[in-house]
Amino acid sequence: MTRPEAPVITVDGPSGAGKGTLCEALATRLGWHFLDSGALYRVLALDGQQAGVALDDAETLAARARSLALRFAPGGAVWLGDQDVSLAIRTDAAGQAASQVAALLPVREALLARQRDFAQAPGLVADGRDMGTVVFPEAPLKIFLSASAPARAERRYKQLKEKGLDANLRALLDSIQARDERDQARSASPLRPADDALVIDSTALAIDDVFGAVWRAALQRGLCAEG
Ligand code: DC
Repeated sequence: MTRPEAPVITVDGPSGAGKGTLCEALATRLGWHFLDSGALYRVLALDGQQAGVALDDAETLAARARSLALRFAPGGAVWLGDQDVSLAIRTDAAGQAASQVAALLPVREALLARQRDFAQAPGLVADGRDMGTVVFPEAPLKIFLSASAPARAERRYKQLKEKGLDANLRALLDSIQARDERDQARSASPLRPADDALVIDSTALAIDDVFGAVWRAALQRGLCAEG
């Protein structure tokens, strides 16, 4: 692969571990770009469903992935063509559908170049499952953020409620466990820490503590300045 244009900090881990919050805080503080790679899989699954494509039709989905009219607007909105899909892609069902299309190797390959294009100056914070292992293997700082399944279910529950979406704690826990299982067991880029990742278990940590640990690691690698 070609070397990315800019330094990348990768943050991988299971859903609900706090990656999104950490990445947004890091990208803001560093003034770097942010890639929410899960949104690509979520939008692709939605696009496929709207077009009546089966979620295991790898070749059709990969072809659609190559020309997917996905746009991240400044401010955080996500667009599919002329539809604002920011809310539609955040439901639990959309996460399950994303996990299904994400298990397909042709789909992952089709989305690779698009993800690497986000590595632009001055730098990129990349959130996902395989950022450190597959998409940006040369990243100078790789984080693997985990937390227990019940802690993650609880966080997801609060997030959904805050967005005014329907949520049920027990169903969320079942869904998180099913998604973990599928993301870890798949043969294409399974969820696992890169060999050189800094592994952080956030179950009993506040986001500020997680941020502090990552910031210190970034300082040590010369990716940011003190202060
Ligand atoms: O991070 P998220 O919950 O938005 O991701 C949705 C699904 O997409 C998740 O179950 C696994 C998949 N995914 C992936 O396989 N690789 C990524 N880099 C990001 C997400």
